[in-house]
Amino acid sequence: MTAGATLEPLDPVRYMSNRSSGKMGYALARAARMRGAKVTLVSGPTALKPPRDVALSRVKTAEEMRRTVLADCGLYDVIIKAAAVLDWRPKETSEHKIKKGRGVQTLELVENPDILAELGCMQGNSRCLLVGFAAETQDLIANAKEKLKKKNLDLIVVNDVSREDTGFEADTNAVKIVYRDGHMEDLPLMPKQEVADQLLDRIKTLWEKSS
Ligand code: PMT
Repeated sequence: MTAGATLEPLDPVRYMSNRSSGKMGYALARAARMRGAKVTLVSGPTALKPPRDVALSRVKTAEEMRRTVLADCGLYDVIIKAAAVLDWRPKETSEHKIKKGRGVQTLELVENPDILAELGCMQGNSRCLLVGFAAETQDLIANAKEKLKKKNLDLIVVNDVSREDTGFEADTNAVKIVYRDGHMEDLPLMPKQEVADQLLDRIKTLWEKSS
């Protein structure tokens, strides 16, 4: 399970990140553990208390998350990527605090590795179940379907992050689930812990069908 935002330093005091609190990923980790799964949680920085009896790896940057996830990815039956990984990072990180007074600065960005796409590429015959999340503000289903195909996923969970009560930081979520075979489900607004349970029901069914 991955959760939370990644962050990318600009200098020793500033960074780029996003609004992910980790709540969705932590709820999934907790729910999976309560069902008896052995859970590894790779988490970006968050103020949340980690669920009990979960192997926690704390990371900051997308590259750290990538290394941690890929190191053991052969061991997992299911990988769920709820983390909001920054798509870009600053081309350069200043060793010292960048000083004011040099006028407006232009920030040059480079693309981060897409961890989920890499996992999707590595899927062989003994594939594990690969579950992605899509944080969208428009064309939710079309964008999610494209991500599912491009990253070779078994299912993708779409949340509308333009709403206050779903997506980032909220305690609730309303998700749509898009499966590899094209069928879809719409779950109503509910606490993230319940969303996690509903998702694990679907993932279990898929897992049983595939093994
Ligand atoms: O943490 P919360 O505050 O509870 O909010 C929950 C959430 C909105 C963060 C979560 O539910 C969610 O939508 N997570 C995915 C956010 C995201 O990065 O979406 P994306 O559409 O940019 O990425 C699609 C998928 O690819 C995700 O599974 C993501 O983990 C993965 N990805 C993206 C970029 C990248 N460089 N590497 C990745 O692995």
